[in-house]
Amino acid sequence: MQNFRYSYPVNVYFGSESLKQALDQESAKMGDTIMLTYGGGSIKRNGIYDAVMKLLKKNGKRVVEFNGIMSNPTYAKVQEGAKLAKDENVDFILAVGGGSVSDASKIISAQARLDADIWTMEMVGHKFPTEGIPMGVVVTASGTGSEMNNGAVITHEDKKIKAGVLGTLPSFAVLNPEFTMTVPHSQVFSGAFDTLSHAMETYFGQSDQDNVSDDVALAIMCNTVKNMRRLVENVDDIQARSNLMWDSAMAENGILKVGRKTDFEAHQIEHQLGAYTDCNHGQGLAVIQPVYYRHILPDAPEKFERFAKEVFDKETAKEGLDALEDLIQACHLPTKLNELRSNATITPELLRQVADSTNLIQTGPRKLTHDEIYDILMECLDESLEDNHDLSSKP
Ligand code: NZQ
Ligand code: ZN
Repeated sequence: MQNFRYSYPVNVYFGSESLKQALDQESAKMGDTIMLTYGGGSIKRNGIYDAVMKLLKKNGKRVVEFNGIMSNPTYAKVQEGAKLAKDENVDFILAVGGGSVSDASKIISAQARLDADIWTMEMVGHKFPTEGIPMGVVVTASGTGSEMNNGAVITHEDKKIKAGVLGTLPSFAVLNPEFTMTVPHSQVFSGAFDTLSHAMETYFGQSDQDNVSDDVALAIMCNTVKNMRRLVENVDDIQARSNLMWDSAMAENGILKVGRKTDFEAHQIEHQLGAYTDCNHGQGLAVIQPVYYRHILPDAPEKFERFAKEVFDKETAKEGLDALEDLIQACHLPTKLNELRSNATITPELLRQVADSTNLIQTGPRKLTHDEIYDILMECLDESLEDNHDLSSKP
């Protein structure tokens, strides 16, 4: 084990009564003016908005709304939210949504308490916020585990960079599996794959032998795969959704990462792909990760063999990666870049730009080069298919 310090200050309320429990019990600490942040409107259609508003009103809160937070939230949207939070003297931010709403809210919170521009401060100055408007998260789509940490992934559209930015750690998280029942099926599986990806990316980073964090990561992977298979049988299986919601939280609350280094190169590639195409995060990972793993398999053969045995009950590392691909197909996740929703035509030229702007991780099985990332991305592209996902020319 490497040296570490671990603390976990997020109050987690899990289950069917969790929204009421959280908003009643946390109310005294939330102040008078709440900024309710949400996305494109799913919470208005499924009743979560009404349930949240009712509880906030009952507890005497003034509510300021900030909505329209898009998937892959942008830096411009975050700045707009920070301005509103300042103008309205907001005491607390309540994020109600998936990872995008949670991420945007963490940065709105931090930016609202800063004079400096948060992007420049972090990316250029390597300084990080020390305070923010307190916030909580009501998770409506699980997978990212964003509610469990202070990291956010923000797209700077002008710079064409999608990157991790540190913001505010939520003081509480509401995890009610019933809230996920209206999530589109493709997003259910893409969220679950994101969870699996987080555990894999952590496990394949560098660690001492017989490190307990490896064992915990493998347990999360096994459980995630088991419950993804249950959802393939019945996507409305609430028990499986519930198990996956906690897998998602466990994979990103930092517990898998203690005493070890992580990889997260597949995430770096996907984030840049997202910066250029606005593709769905979990779906992008499903395309990239198996191809990336075939490239680095010779660099960590024992780890891949253990992964194959424990997660997929297979003898060899190669069979384990075949089983990973089978799972992706069974979940109807995309296997080629051509199948991704994209706002730009995915061409070799575009992939060159994605590859050249991708961060190179030092602590994976092997540090890749930009050329290798380009090769990986090109393997993910079926050049025989005509790209029919160019949404840029459509209204
Ligand atoms: O915007 P609305 O209308 O709410 O619709 C959303 C969105 O279209 C919909 N949705 C959410 N809950 C719903 C629902 N639809 C019906 N019923 C519900 N209950 O689902 C769609 C996707 O939501 P989004 O939040 O974008 O998805 P996800 O949770 O996968 O978050 C993706 C973002 O998180 C970042 C990703 O890069 C991406 O930007 N990540 C954040 C991480 C973190 N902070 O720890 C880690 C991850 O690796 C990831 O990078
Ligand atoms: Zn992820």
